[in-house]
Amino acid sequence: MKAKVSIVGAGMTGSTTAHWLAEREIADIVLVDVVEGMPQGKALDLLQAMPVIGKDVDVVGSNDFDATAGSDIIVITAGLPRKPGMSRDDLLAANATIVREATEKTIRNSPDAIYVVLTNPLDVMAYLTMKVAKLPPQRVVGQAGILDSARMRAFVAQELGVSVENVQCYVLGGHGDEMVPLTRHSNVAGTPLVELLPPDRLAAIVERTRKGGGEIVSLLKTGSAYYAPAIAVTQMVDAILKDKHLIVNASAYLQGEYGLKDIFFGVPVQLGRKGVEKVIEYKLNSEELAAFQKSASSVAENIAKLHY
Ligand SMILES: NC(=O)c1ccc[n+]([C@@H]2O[C@H](COP(=O)([O-])OP(=O)(O)OC[C@H]3O[C@@H](n4cnc5c(N)ncnc54)[C@H](O)[C@@H]3O)[C@@H](O)[C@H]2O)c1
Repeated sequence: MKAKVSIVGAGMTGSTTAHWLAEREIADIVLVDVVEGMPQGKALDLLQAMPVIGKDVDVVGSNDFDATAGSDIIVITAGLPRKPGMSRDDLLAANATIVREATEKTIRNSPDAIYVVLTNPLDVMAYLTMKVAKLPPQRVVGQAGILDSARMRAFVAQELGVSVENVQCYVLGGHGDEMVPLTRHSNVAGTPLVELLPPDRLAAIVERTRKGGGEIVSLLKTGSAYYAPAIAVTQMVDAILKDKHLIVNASAYLQGEYGLKDIFFGVPVQLGRKGVEKVIEYKLNSEELAAFQKSASSVAENIAKLHY
């Protein structure tokens, strides 16, 4: 029997996640949204693409959360995206209401599900999901680090004229302007970036990575990035369903790691069928730790604004 993945929020990121996921033929998919007819229409359209790519995937759209019953994974993308000039934190109050509802209405029918959260402000929404669903920390993970690292990888590959496959970057910390690109750990086929790029070029790439989401928001004018966020979610879902024990950067609940407690924060984690199997702790130098703490305090400030 195929796994079942329900995606709450059938907007740009939700429907694009469904698209990437369907291509992998690893799960049947349910799309849920509050807009009448929209998830049904998108699901039907995607279902009709399956014969062309030869994938046997059932895709269902609904306005009724009962359609998500028995899901192995619930992906939460419901909520407002940024508008030009807005920070992710500006979305907190509105999206907290939406994420709370999405969590309450899904956990009751899928008590064993693992939650993958995308809605912004990401670390805060992942925290809220865990609290509302009363789940153990390993069953909730937020997507941020794969995307932020992929942005940096793309910029480095362009700058150096090498394959993106050879570029590994590690962008950790909160999914906001204070995120922490670890240049010392990032490398091209094993050679550290700091040996390949002059400091000013590396600093420019770090800065562009930090503002990578905002750059797209200001180009699009309405809505935010969706192709790269959606493939990042897909990689996480794939790693969980296939029990890959894949180490990726993602937002996980910390209980003392990196000196941080009671916070969702971007760190390397190992993903498998049980969710977050392990938080990996890098040895950070004092400069990197200070950047971590600065980023963590801005996430913690926003978590403190939540009511649950
Ligand atoms: N973590 C990341 O890396 C990342 C990347 C991109 C987007 N995001 C965030 O993901 C969220 C969605 O972005 P998007 O581009 O898909 O936006 P979108 O507006 O295209 O889609 C959001 C959808 O959520 C639906 N929705 C609203 N309330 C709902 C509810 N209670 N139940 C079910 N559905 C509901 C809306 O009708 C809409 O279709 C935003 O908060 C955005 O900031 C995060």
